[in-house]
Amino acid sequence: MIHLCSKKVLVCQNRTCRKQGSAQVLAAFQAESIPDVGIEATGCLGQCGNGPMVIILPEEVWYDRIQPEEVSTIVEHHLYGGEPVKALLYQKFAPHHSD
Ligand code: FES
Repeated sequence: MIHLCSKKVLVCQNRTCRKQGSAQVLAAFQAESIPDVGIEATGCLGQCGNGPMVIILPEEVWYDRIQPEEVSTIVEHHLYGGEPVKALLYQKFAPHHSD
């Protein structure tokens, strides 16, 4: 099977996000072993203090302050369901909807 734009989950593992628990968030995504979705650690995303920061590619959806127990919601709704989890979006970079 050919995937033209592969999905990826990036979890910041730089100092500030790690202090806020991003290692456990990365581990929680890895534990889900989602088919065709790469889980990657990244360096600082420039949003320190709002972590753990998570970005989903290729659509570049940002999530902030993600806790390990929220990972399964993102996996189920966003990665399997294709719908970003509005309640967890990073408001600074979230598209604004009028609804
Ligand atoms: S350390 Fe994660 S955004 Fe800077």
